[in-house]
Amino acid sequence: MFNIVIVDDYGLVSSEAFKIMRNTLQSSEHPVLGLATGSSPVGLYKKMIADHNGNGTSYKKVTTFNLDEYIGIERNHEQSYYTFMHENLFDQIDIREENIHIPHGDREDMQAECIRYENELKKHEIDLQVLGIGTDGHIGFNEPGTPFDSETHIADLEEQTRRDNARFFEDDINQVPRKAITMGLASIMRAKKIIVIATGENKANAVYGMVKGAKDPSCPASILQDHDDVTVILDHAAASRLG
Ligand code: GLP
Repeated sequence: MFNIVIVDDYGLVSSEAFKIMRNTLQSSEHPVLGLATGSSPVGLYKKMIADHNGNGTSYKKVTTFNLDEYIGIERNHEQSYYTFMHENLFDQIDIREENIHIPHGDREDMQAECIRYENELKKHEIDLQVLGIGTDGHIGFNEPGTPFDSETHIADLEEQTRRDNARFFEDDINQVPRKAITMGLASIMRAKKIIVIATGENKANAVYGMVKGAKDPSCPASILQDHDDVTVILDHAAASRLG
């Protein structure tokens, strides 16, 4: 079941997302957040930082799990999701480093890392999962064709995804990793509440596929049709195919 919120611009999209985040933070003693990378949630993270600085909202009792990480670059690489999350959120709030979970993409035995991460996830229940959506309908790095019952696994990135993300790698697709570790679709579906943030015309097809398309692994985000608490926050361009 989707609750669809359409607003005028990215600032308002981020404000809507933050309202839901604030409710989650206030309604639990030990909130567990599922977090995403990419440009879409950056405005939300800025609002969380401003709220922490302005209103003293504390993250000392918050636990986080990130969706995914590139394989083949080191943790401290400037484009790793570990670095992204620390720069865009964690370094600017009072979260404890030991409560931050991000899959490792630089382990020798990546299969063991998938199992370790999924087991850690299963010890917790995510109160709020933040998602963006790829132009091919991926969530996390669950590319088209990923089975709906997938748990944390190694994904081969689509050419389209690598092209989309080349902007972070000096516009050079050859520098974009070819593999990633990602929570699976079944792992994501265990979250109690989910928000999907999407803006811009280039997301319109993916948003349509998620909300109105066939529920099929060809659009991984369409699995969310089966979740009972998903809020999709869009600008008009991203919503333009919903009619
Ligand atoms: C990336 C991430 C996803 C993200 C998506 C969209 O590849 N793995 O978690 O949601 O692509 O990114 P953006 O928000 O920058 O458009």
